[in-house]
Amino acid sequence: MLVTGGAGFIGANFVHHTVRHHPEYRVRVLDALTYAGNRASLGPVDDRVEFVHGDICDAALVDTLVAGADVVVHFAAESHVDNSLRDPEPFVRTNLLGTFTLLEAVRRHDVRFHHVSTDEVFGDLPLDGTAKFTEQTAYDPSSPYSATKAGSDLLVRAWVRSYGVAATLSNCANNYGPFQHVEKFIPRQVTNVLTGERPKLYGTGVNVREWTHVDDHNEAVHLILRHGRIGETYLVGSGDERSNREIVELILALMDRPTDAYDLVPDRPGHDLRYANDSTKLRTELGWRPRFGSFRDGLAATIDWYRANDWWWKPRKQAVEEGYRAAGEIAS
Ligand code: NAD
Ligand code: DAU
Repeated sequence: MLVTGGAGFIGANFVHHTVRHHPEYRVRVLDALTYAGNRASLGPVDDRVEFVHGDICDAALVDTLVAGADVVVHFAAESHVDNSLRDPEPFVRTNLLGTFTLLEAVRRHDVRFHHVSTDEVFGDLPLDGTAKFTEQTAYDPSSPYSATKAGSDLLVRAWVRSYGVAATLSNCANNYGPFQHVEKFIPRQVTNVLTGERPKLYGTGVNVREWTHVDDHNEAVHLILRHGRIGETYLVGSGDERSNREIVELILALMDRPTDAYDLVPDRPGHDLRYANDSTKLRTELGWRPRFGSFRDGLAATIDWYRANDWWWKPRKQAVEEGYRAAGEIAS
């Protein structure tokens, strides 16, 4: 199995999960170790995994690695919306050109491909209501990040239909868990508290996200690899929707701080209001169920992980906060 982006948040957890629960696979990781990749995230499984430091846009390297694989699971991406608003170019390159490069290689070598994508391709939902995204929802991305992910999904679908590539797709909602970069919402707020900073809430914190534990996402990917129908898209989501304000308050409560000890900062341009996935297809066709039933417990375990592993995140914290400040983030 070739795992692209296996030194990133979800990819590294996927590799851990695969080694632990699916030992039938021999795993090779391809990762460019951008600012978001961390070789140390694979430390616990180093003796079970082969690591290749390289770029998914490098067609010759990709061709060789794909030729030696039975299946490719594609996580590698530029993944942070705020970065895409500041500098979209790497998103176009990696998310579009990188996915294209992989597709051409799996087409040449007739290798099974799974494309990991996001619910952000659908745009957003109104705050007041119960509507959810389904596999039939029209694409309507808001940010450069989601536009490039939408483009990559469409490339995969076209390569299935026109060239008969054996690919599946999954679009998951927001993930949380260990090894997530400190630029992202939950790790940023937890590590702010741990370093004596106040959590930062965009706008008024009313935006809603659906939170799925990274291990539940990764088990969905394995189910799709084994039983998914070629050419099909599966939406993944726990059903647990929360406003950003609710999450900051919960983090503060779990960390024994006053629940109003956060700052409001200027809103993200084009900020999507609400995401929610209808994952009925995955649940009924493939029998997926989230194992992490309680978000509160999963969040508490994630906080404990960041508390116990500051060696992993501390070296990157200062640069991330300087980046936010340089982009004009000031508490109101
Ligand atoms: P991440 O930013 O933590 O990790 C991305 C990884 O890809 C890093 O290790 C990075 O070094 C690597 N990478 C980047 N450009 C590369 C290139 N050109 N060649 C090779 N490697 C490269 O991202 P993540 O949060 O783990 O997301 C993984 C995938 O899951 C992405 O495709 C993302 O769109 C999707 N996704 C993420 C979420 C979420 O909540 N984080 C939810 C749904 C879907
Ligand atoms: O829905 C899936 C997507 O979830 C993935 O495709 C993306 O790769 C992943 O980064 C995530 O995107 P979001 O933009 O939803 O995640 P982020 O962690 O950046 O922000 C979550 C919410 O919290 C969002 O409404 C913005 C808000 N936020 C974020 C940060 C970093 C804050 O209020 N304060 C912050 O400091």
